Amino acid sequence: MTIHIGAPKEDIAPTVLMPGDPYRAKWAAETFLQNAKCVNEVRGMLGFTGTWNGHDVTIQGSGMGMPSLSIYANELIADYDAQTLIRIGSCGGMQKHVGMRDIILAMTASTISTPSRGIFKDLNFAPCADYGLLSAAYAAAQQKNVATHVGGIYSSDVFYDERPDLNDQMIRHGILGVEMEAAELYNLAARHGRRALAVLTVSDHLITHEALPSKDRERSFGDMVEIALSAAFA
Ligand code: ADE
Repeated sequence: MTIHIGAPKEDIAPTVLMPGDPYRAKWAAETFLQNAKCVNEVRGMLGFTGTWNGHDVTIQGSGMGMPSLSIYANELIADYDAQTLIRIGSCGGMQKHVGMRDIILAMTASTISTPSRGIFKDLNFAPCADYGLLSAAYAAAQQKNVATHVGGIYSSDVFYDERPDLNDQMIRHGILGVEMEAAELYNLAARHGRRALAVLTVSDHLITHEALPSKDRERSFGDMVEIALSAAFA
């Protein structure tokens, strides 16, 4: 047990999928895992462990934003020895050719600020995905025939941005989408020698201003979970 995860060590698998929303963790575990059991309820940040095609998998909510994800990822890595951590979440599209419900595989995650800022200070570290996971996820997405983009994303500290000029600069530099967690996940994976990837579904769009109603997100979310599971065990 840790401060934020109530599971005994043996109840957390070496492979962990991390949606921001704890109810999505529940839905994904009930939909895609066999023999899923709830292993964490501390603060309502639900976690489940079961099997997928015979492989042990944990699906643990991360909460929203890098400080929250950092708590769960740190404890999963340091106390539970998680080896593969895959964020599954939503993002805002940032390019015209990126459509609603498309999948983005985050090759890199640019950010202005993370819980790791204290380490890097003036250095602009480049947080990046594990290449093996990234290429396996791309192959899985191709097999499913889902519109998929691979490239850089932007991990913001704010959803309601008082500095829209930053978004404009990200768009100008070809960034595919904005979310709020991946950069810190990639930092932690680099620091501890673990594998990480963010598989994202476009749920709103900064150029077209479209937004998916939450009930419409389920189908796209399912593709994302299956792509992440296939990549983890490729
Ligand atoms: N997650 C989903 N859409 C987002 C957006 N527009 N900004 C930040 N995080 C997001």
